[in-house]
Amino acid sequence: GRKGIILGIETSCDDTGCAIVDTEGNILGESLNSQHLIHLNNGGIIPPIAKDLHRKHIENVVDEAVALANLSFDDIDAIATTVKPGLPLSLLIGMRYGKHLCRKFKKPFMPIHHMEAHALTARMHDPTVQFPFLVLLISGGHCLLAVAVKVDKFLLLGESIDDAPGEAFDKVARRMKLKNLPEYSQLSGGQALELAASKANDPLHYKLTIPMLQYKNCNFSFAGIKSQLLYQVIREEKSKDVAADSPIPGVYDMCASFQLVVTRHICHRVQRGMEYAERAGLIPPDKKTLVVSGGAACNNFIAKGLSMVCGELGYKMVRPQPKLCTDNGVMIAWNGVERWKENIGVYTDFENITIENN
Ligand code: KG4
Ligand code: ZN
Repeated sequence: GRKGIILGIETSCDDTGCAIVDTEGNILGESLNSQHLIHLNNGGIIPPIAKDLHRKHIENVVDEAVALANLSFDDIDAIATTVKPGLPLSLLIGMRYGKHLCRKFKKPFMPIHHMEAHALTARMHDPTVQFPFLVLLISGGHCLLAVAVKVDKFLLLGESIDDAPGEAFDKVARRMKLKNLPEYSQLSGGQALELAASKANDPLHYKLTIPMLQYKNCNFSFAGIKSQLLYQVIREEKSKDVAADSPIPGVYDMCASFQLVVTRHICHRVQRGMEYAERAGLIPPDKKTLVVSGGAACNNFIAKGLSMVCGELGYKMVRPQPKLCTDNGVMIAWNGVERWKENIGVYTDFENITIENN
């Protein structure tokens, strides 16, 4: 494919990200402003607040990435920007700014699908990840299992019918008041829960059932596991009479029980997906790869479970480094690179590209 340098902009949720990546996969410059702590204090993302923070930071984030790359806009071939899926108000800020830069510097615009970007990031530093491959995306906003057929073609095998796993981790962590424990205050719900689970004595103490075992598809469900655990939380609170802001009794074992069942569920569904992909001839039997990405892919316990499934079914598992698993500008720029190389979705006439809701 042709060579080039692509600038990527990401504002789909609560991270304002920008990066410049070349067609060899070198990250020339990157910058990220996370709104994480602000939303943590609000007990969740409030879309108009996320939007205002994107608006406040977008210019600086882009300028910083360009400055760190030691480049000017003359050196950049195209601007890639997330246009879906995500919070519409947040997406709008990145899209407006990306188009503004394209107009100002006469560059082509590349609309990017956020999930496609998560999936393709693994190819940036690992040339062995070749199409077609299986990809599991687990984050605070998404949960899906798909076959990546080529740059712009994905076959969805399954998705969550309710919460995303990161969302379930966040809700459980909040209800268990993990934030009130000293070393946990700065962590995301998922990170806090993983740390707490590592301190458990008995991950089987709280019996939670694996959902959807009877369903012969590849969909996921996390809301039921969350409800089962929250029921246990109420029981413990009632029986022990705890003060309002102190941690729940049995908190570490509860976290471990929750993480274990979430992991077993994810592994079960992924194994089904692998078996289906094999039967349907979607994945070449001699080159089987599972890419795992998204914020919840940072969870080492889940990753260990998945690597066991991969071992058993002859898959190679590839997990991008944590900073590339969570939302960032690099993945958008890299998706731009993959499209630029093959000249897919590069628009000089871009004014009518809008946000679609899916
Ligand atoms: O990909 P991401 O940055 O944003 C979304 O697109 O959602 O993922 C953030 C999510 C949060 O829900 C967070 O709790 C979860 O990923 N997360 C984790 C871990 N680290 C982050 N979940 C489980 N275990 C972790 N170690
Ligand atoms: Zn994401």
